[in-house]
Amino acid sequence: MSQLTIVYISLSGNTQSFVRRLSDYLKLNHDMTTRQINIKELDHQTFPVEEPFVAILPTYLEGGNGIDDGDVEILTNPLGDFIAAHDNYKHCFGIIGSGNRNFNNQYCLTAKQYAKRFGFPMIGDFELRGTSSDIERLAAVILETQEAFATKIS
Ligand SMILES: Cc1cc2nc3c(=O)[nH]c(=O)nc-3n(C[C@H](O)[C@H](O)[C@H](O)COP(=O)(O)O)c2cc1C
Repeated sequence: MSQLTIVYISLSGNTQSFVRRLSDYLKLNHDMTTRQINIKELDHQTFPVEEPFVAILPTYLEGGNGIDDGDVEILTNPLGDFIAAHDNYKHCFGIIGSGNRNFNNQYCLTAKQYAKRFGFPMIGDFELRGTSSDIERLAAVILETQEAFATKIS
């Protein structure tokens, strides 16, 4: 049985719902178990994650317009701190952003900013809780990217 580690944060439950449904999908269709690390539950603690992982990050911004500077990340910073700590970012094979398209150019902007800051790829995005087809689509991308990453480091 294979395993996937998911590092995520969820403030109002949408990303949490996506992670739960994604995990159920992977178990059922790929006989894959998940290790879920919910940063919100850690109360700013950090620890090393030794295995490859995917990060899933909602967007909470104040100000800015998504084109020029000026947006301020609120609430999700503990995920960035966790990924930066202990060089955890080196084991992150990709990040998925979640958000709401009503935010136009700021849609999923924080995931894009993290990809640039840490040097891992942004491998997808979804709105709010994500649909069943988002889960199927992103599960395929996660499996493909995880495999390519494992080949690269072996
Ligand atoms: C105060 C606030 C600011 C937000 N800012 C953005 C934003 O800049 N871009 C975006 O795509 N979504 C934005 N959203 C939408 C959230 O990212 C979206 O609701 C997401 O699903 C929340 O995930 P969670 O329920 O796991 O916390 C914002 C939501 C709130 C409440």
